[in-house]
This record gives sequence, structure tokens and C-alpha cells, in this order.
Amino acid sequence: MKLGIVILAAGQGTRMKSSLPKVLHPLAGRPLLAHVLETALSLQPEKTVVVYGHGGELVRDAINEPDVLWVEQSEQLGTGHAVQQAMPLLQDMDKVLVLYGDVPLVREESLRKLISNAESGVGLMTVTLKDPSGYGRIQREPSGKVQCIVEQKDASREQLAISEINTGIMLVDTRHLQQWLQELSPKNAQGEYYLTDIIAMAVRDGVDVHVTQPGDVVEAEGVNDRLQLATLERVLQRWRAEALMRDGVTLLDPARFDLRGSLLAGTDVTLDVNVIIEGRVVLGDGVFVGANTVLRNVQVADNVCIRENCVIEDAVIGADCAIGPFSRIRPGTRLTGGVHIGNFVEIKNSTIGLGSKVNHLSYIGDTQMGSGVNIGAGTITCNYDGAYKHQTTIEDKAFIGSNAALVAPVCIGEDATIGAGSVVAKDAAAGELTLARSKQTTIKGWKRPKKER
Ligand code: UD1
Ligand code: CA
Repeated sequence: MKLGIVILAAGQGTRMKSSLPKVLHPLAGRPLLAHVLETALSLQPEKTVVVYGHGGELVRDAINEPDVLWVEQSEQLGTGHAVQQAMPLLQDMDKVLVLYGDVPLVREESLRKLISNAESGVGLMTVTLKDPSGYGRIQREPSGKVQCIVEQKDASREQLAISEINTGIMLVDTRHLQQWLQELSPKNAQGEYYLTDIIAMAVRDGVDVHVTQPGDVVEAEGVNDRLQLATLERVLQRWRAEALMRDGVTLLDPARFDLRGSLLAGTDVTLDVNVIIEGRVVLGDGVFVGANTVLRNVQVADNVCIRENCVIEDAVIGADCAIGPFSRIRPGTRLTGGVHIGNFVEIKNSTIGLGSKVNHLSYIGDTQMGSGVNIGAGTITCNYDGAYKHQTTIEDKAFIGSNAALVAPVCIGEDATIGAGSVVAKDAAAGELTLARSKQTTIKGWKRPKKER
């Protein structure tokens, strides 16, 4: 069976009150449309067409998916009209599956169920809601056979009481769809070409309508405003948290956890509250991540302890490192192993050798640091001359006294000691003590100024 998928994404999304097209609003860090596309592509369709409208170029650029065809619907004349715009590209498909760009949580399994339930005839996905208001209602005969879909604005009082609603997701033979779309008319309360009218046409033409319900009603929920967006965000995060816990990850509070990318975790990983994971993150066995820490594209080896309030981005952390609280590790950093990074320390584009320690109030940038190095509190690499960045090299077992300024390019030799407060602008000899500061003098009899009464 040649399956074509059309994703409707031309609606303006006025209720979002945003300059960003609705389908680009992020859910778990990715545009709504990207979620629907991912699910669509998981079905391995022959063709996938996105119908876009307002802000179209923005949408195409943001999605940048090579396997997708784009069709513009310049005037939004209704869901039927939208599908019609995509039909020229779908002629050679056997069936067409219609999805909505703003219904992001529909799952692959539910769509597969819809497809297998409707080998012949039309497949329709419905759910039963306590509050069905706003949705199209599924009108059935007393026998239970589906008759038609009635939109909220066209419904009678009896029809408004129906709690089974149209999710909008349907599967139709291309041949039938072509024919029925041509028969649509905008003679209804909204003056639109309703896709939903094809259900009555199927019944008229003796084509069976097979109804499928998704595993979870939330799969049918659309995003119309920021409230619904926030609701779906929490649902999706809960699903992700549950999947991680089932895989053996401890989340100290699954309600206070956000995964906005992918997380691969080893055994006995514990995440404290308000951890945010973005991009691709890998955590080894026995890793602990403290409260309020953000990890973005980070690879962490076994038995690393990252304490509270750290921000770590585009970095590789070796085994047995201890980081934080309040550490910032910026792109291009590699902590080889057993490294200690303490509070108010910023590391950028640097490699820190085995067992080295930078424990307090330091900035280390563009630095190659050996193993067994100790960096005293307040030490700064002066890596920027106002125009260019320069490298600092600190060899094995060097000891840098507190509040030193290492003016790059500079090399601190193996086992060298730098006196506290030194401004080191020339290479420091291995194994020796280097001091670069003015001598301490005492001015006898000097008095601090006093305020006159
Ligand atoms: C539609 C269904 C309704 C269903 C509900 C489920 C119709 C007539 N009604 O109503 O039965 O219960 O969805 O959420 O189909 N779109 C376009 N071009 C258009 C109009 C809409 O691309 O000209 C897109 C929108 O961007 C959106 C989707 O189609 O992704 C649904 O449109 P919307 O206006 O929200 O339909 P509803 O009135 O909610
Ligand atoms: Ca609507």
C-alpha cells in the first residue's frame, strides 16, 4: 500500500497571540510541527506533504526536512480546501492519511491501529470527551453505524450533546478523496470547505467508516492557545519521565524534570529536581545530577557527581569528576577524569587533565591543563587581548597560588609553583617557584584618613 500523508498547518493560530506561526511554537524544545512530522515519518510513508499558509517561509526554514513536500494554501478556506491543495502531489498514492500540525501528541501506535483497522473504506480517529465543546461531533445511527460529522457551529441541541468527537485524523482512499473533495461546498455556518463532510459522502456511496480510538485521549488534543501548549508540555514531560523511570533512572520528582532532547542513561543514575536536559545527553553509570542543573549536549562518563545549579554545554566529562555547585562549563571543554570543578568556576574550550582541581572562583579559557594540577581560588586565564584569543598551557602537577592572572599565551612548566597574586606574562620554569608581584613593604607611621567632625 502506497501511503501519502498530508499535515495541515496553514491555520493562523490567532489565539496564540504571537508573531511566530503556531506550528513553530516549541513543545519540549522542538516546534509542534516537528513532533507531528517525526510521528508521520515513523510510518514510512511514500510521500509527506505539509500544507502551510501564514509565515510559510519561516515554517519551511525551521523544519528543514528533506523528505517533506510543501504546498502553500494562500487563503485558509477550510480543512477540505487545505487537503485539496495537496492532492496534485498525492495522485499516485493508494491512501492518504490526514494529520494536523497542531495536534502533536498523536502516537505512532495509534496511527498504525487506524491504518490496520481501515484496510478497506475510510478510517476515522475519534475520542469521547466529558466536554466535547468546540469539536466536530460523530453522529451515529441507533445501530451504531457512523452517519456523518457535524461541526459545533452547525450542530443542533441534540447533536451538541454527543460526546464522541472527531480528532480530525482520517485515512481515505486517494481515489475517493479526490472525488469527494470536489463535491465539498462551503454552505455551512463558517462558510468553509469542511473535510469532515466527506464522511457523509462515504456513507452515501456505501463505503465503510472504521472508527479507531487512540490509546490516550490526550493524543487528540490540539494546541490553540498557550494554556493548551503548557498542558501538553506537562503531559509529554510526564511520558518521558515515566519512560526513563521504567528504564531504571531515578527522578527525585518526575513532575519537576524536563527533557528537551534525548537522554541516554546508564544504571543507577539519579536526577534531582528541576534538571533540564537539552540536545543529546549521555550519562554513564552511577551519575548524580543535582537540583537546577542544565545539561546541553553533554557526554558524562561513570560515577560523576554534578551538584546543584550547574550549567554544562557541549562538553565531555570523564569518569569520577565532581562538579559544582554553581559551576559553568562551556563549549569545547573536556574534563578527562577525576577532575574537581568547584563553585563559581567557569571553564571554556579547555582540557583539564586527570585529577586536576579548580575549586573556587576561577576562569579557565583556551587552556591545556595537565594532570594533578591545583588551581588556587580566584585564578584567571587572561586569554583575550581585545582582538585575539590565546592559549594557556599548564603542565602536570603545577600549583597555581590564589588570585594569579595567567596572561596568555603562556606556559606554566611541570611541577612549577606560582605565588599567590602573581601576574604571569612570561613562561614559568618547571619545578621552580615563580613570583610576579610587587614586594610587600611597610610604610611606617602611615595613618588612614579620618572623617573630620
Ligand atoms: C477541525 C474539524 C473538527 C475536529 C477538530 C479537531 C473540520 C471542518 N473540523 O475543526 O471536526 O473536531 O478539527 O481538532 O475539519 N487548517 C488549514 N487550512 C485551513 C483550515 C485549517 O491548514 O483552511 C489546519 C489548521 O492549521 C489546523 C487544522 O487544519 O492544523 C484544523 O483546523 P481548525 O480550524 O483548528 O479546525 P477546527 O475548527 O478545530
Ligand atoms: Ca479551530
